[in-house]
Amino acid sequence: MSALERIGDLLRAAHLDSALTSPEAIRSIVSERRRATGIASDDAYADLAARSSAEFGKLREQIAVPETWLFRYPSAFETLRAQFMRQARRPVRALSVACATGAEPFSIAATALAAGVHPDDIQILAIDPNPDALERARTGDLGRMAARGEIPSWAQMYVTVLPNNVRVAPEARACVELREGSAPAALLGLERGSFDAVFCRNLAIYLSDAGRRAIGEQLAALLHPDGILYLGHAERPALFGLEDGFESVQGGQPGAFAFARRTVAATTQKPPEPFHSDRWTDRDRAPFAQSSATRPTTTVALKPLSANAPAPAQIPAPVPSIAPTESKMLQSARAAADAGNLRQAADIAERIHSTGDRSLALMELLGSVHLGLGDSTRAESAWRQVVYLDPQNVEALLHLAILADRRGDAALAQRYRARAAKGTS
Ligand SMILES: C[S@@+](CC[C@H](N)C(=O)[O-])C[C@H]1O[C@@H](n2cnc3c(N)ncnc32)[C@H](O)[C@@H]1O
Repeated sequence: MSALERIGDLLRAAHLDSALTSPEAIRSIVSERRRATGIASDDAYADLAARSSAEFGKLREQIAVPETWLFRYPSAFETLRAQFMRQARRPVRALSVACATGAEPFSIAATALAAGVHPDDIQILAIDPNPDALERARTGDLGRMAARGEIPSWAQMYVTVLPNNVRVAPEARACVELREGSAPAALLGLERGSFDAVFCRNLAIYLSDAGRRAIGEQLAALLHPDGILYLGHAERPALFGLEDGFESVQGGQPGAFAFARRTVAATTQKPPEPFHSDRWTDRDRAPFAQSSATRPTTTVALKPLSANAPAPAQIPAPVPSIAPTESKMLQSARAAADAGNLRQAADIAERIHSTGDRSLALMELLGSVHLGLGDSTRAESAWRQVVYLDPQNVEALLHLAILADRRGDAALAQRYRARAAKGTS
């Protein structure tokens, strides 16, 4: 087996999509890493990647970029705030899978604090396989690109935006446990049914179908029966093999990509397995470990899902986040995408496009929706337009890199990644 084939096998064993680990794509990222490490041959590099998890992490980072920012998709955090405000159960627990440099779990923490939850009652577990990204998160200095767009007014006291840096307040950081690990394996030991909010955003795009399904199974098992699953733009539960069990949160905001379990009456799916009521223990007792008979019980009653249970996640009307100038049609395209009706969203967005609208908001929506539908050609054309309108748009550049990889143009993919990396430093 050649060195590049060995490296391809390593990357696929980490659940990366085979389209992103083609021989051309691997040749390009390996030559990048050989330049950085000064290693003379592909064989020697393959040996290093196999024995050093740190180097393997750097290789994986060339594909699954730790790109993130605070309050990414602000509607999700409005929905989360409403969720935390109405939830009486304490503590509140959230999971951020693929947390990168921490902007997502820190945003969750700031949201919980802003919702009035006592800091001792906030438990957020954040998981990512990239040790460098986690190290950055631990410093709380997230870099200047960690704030893009507005920080919600209710969260501003937890974020300091400096000219060349964005800093997260220690009280928000203290609510988050950062853990190195790779899903699905890193999720296996966690307590089932114990997370009120599960975030898994902008990871699916990098993964194989089998990897996404294996992760989806864990996410569904970890989510509390009343919990909410938060996904990335135009990502749907079906991507994770959860097509039958979840529906868009009722009363949630457009653009939140928030999903709750379907009510039992509306689905033929079995309710989740019962879980133990000993899950709300104090945080000193390894709060994220699997439940064990030795952990003390509390008196908190946990309602199982039943046919008479109220619909999960009825969120009170949240603060609108859509710009007032955004057309009604664009709003309805977003709402359709948010509800997982990507075909309908694409049809509405294409109708708007045919009227001559080339706005950034529309092109971003078209890019996400066509990507979600698997229409690479239309997605690529929309993301190109986004980059034309906004040359430093990191999200668009990374999507274009993935799409170039998928059609085997590794050199172009590398150029897009290099451009995106300039924008994130
Ligand atoms: C684009 S970032 C997503 C950041 C954040 N969730 C967001 O939406 O802003 C993708 C992250 O996925 C992480 N990743 C890659 N494979 C993973 C896996 N199997 N399990 C968990 N995280 C993974 C990468 O290290 C990278 O930090």
